[in-house]
Amino acid sequence: MFEIIIQAIWLMIPAYIANPMAVVLGGGRPIDLGKNWIDGHRILGDGKTIRGLIGGTLCGIFAGVIQIIVSKEFEIFTVPTLIVVITLSFGALFGDIVKSFFKRRIGFIRGAQLPLIDQLDFVIGAWVLTYIFEPQWFIQNFNIELIITVLILTPVLHRLTNIIGYRFKLKKEPW
Ligand code: CTP
Ligand code: MG
Repeated sequence: MFEIIIQAIWLMIPAYIANPMAVVLGGGRPIDLGKNWIDGHRILGDGKTIRGLIGGTLCGIFAGVIQIIVSKEFEIFTVPTLIVVITLSFGALFGDIVKSFFKRRIGFIRGAQLPLIDQLDFVIGAWVLTYIFEPQWFIQNFNIELIITVLILTPVLHRLTNIIGYRFKLKKEPW
């Protein structure tokens, strides 16, 4: 039980770093450049910025590279590949962006709450991209127990970090 939670956190670290660091480093020019979709609503909205995307991705990759070095030193940890580190980091923020795109299409304004989806978007994005680029590694390391653990653990961790982020005024809403 304890071991599987540690393993779940270890495997998800690049995504777990990329997602909140986009919030910390975000701001400035929005990815959609302020443009609207054909439905008259913003393509993504002001909550998805270029700085957040690049900053978050780089922080996740940085954390993952440290993981690669550490896991090669101490054999108890699973070794991620550089590709995996990149797909987990970028995939996390890509999933968040795809989520915002659909949020805008159903008329939810920036910052409106979508329970569970807001908390798991980045996990799904990270997994999908990793599965596409490193299917072998993904299947070997993310067994069904780990997938379930991550799906339960993430909303809990997400809620905790967002409450902290809200307190420190990094986020507008505590979710
Ligand atoms: N953020 C960013 N760039 C990203 C992701 C997040 O700048 N690629 C920053 C924004 O300041 C954003 C905040 O992190 O407002 C919180 O992220 P999130 O909850 O994902 O965005 P929301 O503002 O809630 O927008 P949406 O309704 O589209 O989810
Ligand atoms: Mg939000």
